[in-house]
Amino acid sequence: MDRIHKLCTYLDKCKTFADIGCDHGYCTQFMLENGMCESAVISDISAKCLSKAEKLLAEFVNMGKVDSVCCDGLNGIPENTEHVLIAGMGGVEIENILKTAYIPQSFVLQPMKNVKRLREFLQLKQVEITADEGFKADGKYYFVIKGNKKGVPCRYSRAELVFGKNLQSAETIEYVYSELEKKRSYLQRPMTAENRGILESDIAFIEGVLKGEID
Ligand SMILES: C[S@@+](CC[C@H](N)C(=O)[O-])C[C@H]1O[C@@H](n2cnc3c(N)ncnc32)[C@H](O)[C@@H]1O
Repeated sequence: MDRIHKLCTYLDKCKTFADIGCDHGYCTQFMLENGMCESAVISDISAKCLSKAEKLLAEFVNMGKVDSVCCDGLNGIPENTEHVLIAGMGGVEIENILKTAYIPQSFVLQPMKNVKRLREFLQLKQVEITADEGFKADGKYYFVIKGNKKGVPCRYSRAELVFGKNLQSAETIEYVYSELEKKRSYLQRPMTAENRGILESDIAFIEGVLKGEID
């Protein structure tokens, strides 16, 4: 299953949906074609990227079911939008989008990197996290974080901050082992004593997670 297909399985049925940084617009297409939302906003900071989604969804745009907004993040997206997807960007970019606008009522985030930093931000904001798990698609690992602005504030353990909340899943365990192997292979490279120290402590951390000594 490719990343987009897997990502779409995390989306909820809703009245209003917004796809931030939509690019091609495939996720919005999934929502509309499957009757998962009544209306949608497609948005992108790049007019050129947005035009791809407008083309793909022209039928729905003409029906008045899709609004197209060229804007930075959530600035320009109605705050009462029920369900918001921000996917395929870095964790820092997603954090900045949430920081400079608002936390959506309900959201699905799929950061490409800096996931730990995004989790720390979400914890600080005391949002509810209903899922935070890894999945493998097209030979790569991705994390998807799903939650609500209001609800039980999330608490991440040390291991969860790095590897998500589904530590026991086969896919996460496979990912943790692959990270361990990757970091062990880096030990062969020349590096400063300081960087070697950081690397060795990262390796010890991952070994501790795998042994169940760090939760
Ligand atoms: C790699 S694409 C991801 C497309 C799609 N969301 C996905 O998951 O496949 C990233 C998109 O995010 C857009 N983007 C980056 N920063 C943005 C921002 N601050 N606000 C809105 N869109 C942004 C880019 O223009 C690009 O179209």
